[in-house]
Amino acid sequence: MSAADPIAQVVAWLDHARAHEPEDAEAMSVATVDADGRPSLRMVLLRGIDDRGFVFYTNLTSRKARDIAVNAEVALCFHWKSTARQVRIDGTAEAVSAAEADAYFASRPRESRIGAWASKQSAPLEGRFKLEQRVARYTAAFAIGPVPRPEFWSGYRVVPRRIEFWEKRPFRLHERTLYERDAAGWTTARLYP
Ligand SMILES: Cc1cc2nc3c(=O)[nH]c(=O)nc-3n(C[C@H](O)[C@H](O)[C@H](O)COP(=O)(O)O)c2cc1C
Repeated sequence: MSAADPIAQVVAWLDHARAHEPEDAEAMSVATVDADGRPSLRMVLLRGIDDRGFVFYTNLTSRKARDIAVNAEVALCFHWKSTARQVRIDGTAEAVSAAEADAYFASRPRESRIGAWASKQSAPLEGRFKLEQRVARYTAAFAIGPVPRPEFWSGYRVVPRRIEFWEKRPFRLHERTLYERDAAGWTTARLYP
């Protein structure tokens, strides 16, 4: 059965979650797989959504970025406790353009931009003081003028192949709707709960 646009449905569920979720309705988990096939999972914030896919930003030396460099297949999961809904997405991560990353980076508070320079995300940190020293160093380095986007900081767009919507129903008879994309577009199917 062909289907309406599941990305539009994610947008609608996200808007609904924003009205009910006390904090970070945009939070989603991102699963990656390393070169040895071992999965890992962490939360990030969704910072862009359109017909092309789902965008998040991160440090390109982080564990997730190293995983994506060897295997661009990723999975995302939103769970909104306040609305009792889940969205699962499987897809391929692509680098966003430099212009897109620059525009998002420029929209962040100055302190966050300096923090991006200071953090060697996912590398061992000998102590909090070391991080504060690095923040002070970059605050001084960028004392006047703009804080440019570091080369090691950018975003990924997850181009979805499969999107599943889950909605709580009484007695665990939940609603599950799966959308899968092929050359002709999206098809949809119901799944047992
Ligand atoms: C609610 C929440 C939102 C987060 N958002 C981001 C984000 O947008 N980008 C990011 O790099 N890390 C974000 N983090 C931190 C990541 O979960 C993770 O600690 C970090 O990216 C390092 O992950 P890695 O070592 O697997 O690369 C967030 C954490 C939480 C709890």
